[in-house]
Amino acid sequence: MPKPPPLRLGVNVDHVATLRNARAGERPDPVRAALLAIEAGADGITAHLREDRRHIRDEDMARLKAEISKPLNFEMAATPDMLKIALATKPHAVCLVPERREELTTEGGLDVVGQHNALAPFIATLNDAGVRVSLFIAAEPRQIETAAKLRAPVIEIHTGAWCDAVVDGHAAKAEAEWQRIVAGAALAHSAGLEVQAGHGLDYVTAEKIASLPEVVELNIGYYMIGEALFVGLGETVRAMRAAMDRGRGKLVSRDHAGQNLTGRA
Ligand code: PXP
Repeated sequence: MPKPPPLRLGVNVDHVATLRNARAGERPDPVRAALLAIEAGADGITAHLREDRRHIRDEDMARLKAEISKPLNFEMAATPDMLKIALATKPHAVCLVPERREELTTEGGLDVVGQHNALAPFIATLNDAGVRVSLFIAAEPRQIETAAKLRAPVIEIHTGAWCDAVVDGHAAKAEAEWQRIVAGAALAHSAGLEVQAGHGLDYVTAEKIASLPEVVELNIGYYMIGEALFVGLGETVRAMRAAMDRGRGKLVSRDHAGQNLTGRA
């Protein structure tokens, strides 16, 4: 039976820091959450050092790099200040994201087509420093083709619009967004890019996207930290892992028989 590539779970700890910052103190500690998530089965930790430092702080990023045993994925905007911090931190990966100060979260993908000339030297510097660069983009053919030309080894597909449509019960929109993701993942893979995905994922959408063989990593934060309030972070990581494994299992059935043996879509 052909074995699908493993699917990694990257746990985003930003919102542990959001909670901590509500009282401007030291607790809860995002590094403690990262260590616990790893103990429960996370394959890596993601944190976003925003320009406004609304959740993760500089010292969090330094401590994550020093204290965790799994890869650190450093999300940041493509600015000279962030580049300096990333080069000093030397994380396993840098994920370049768009950032607007007034946004609630990272609302759209990075426009790598429009920013090609600014991004090219930025990516080259990180590549030369041995940091794996990932571009957080929408699953649009022009963005994907430009990402490949920019010599970034990885893209992360922005799943936010799809997840919002699923949660809001907008079936037609959800299906259209899903088809964009399916086609985008296949195009990126054929262009030689490693494909990751993230934003807004929960157990249902993570299980579904796990069935795409090109996707090798999911980065998930907000939903998991929310669930952790009720059942604990370790339990949440294990439940997410189980959802992803169920989705991957459906892929094995399809690959093996050329059809879906589970009888489900
Ligand atoms: N991936 C990227 C690039 C992100 O910017 C975010 C949000 O910080 C996530 C994944 C995680 O999204 P969420 O917190 O909605 O799971």
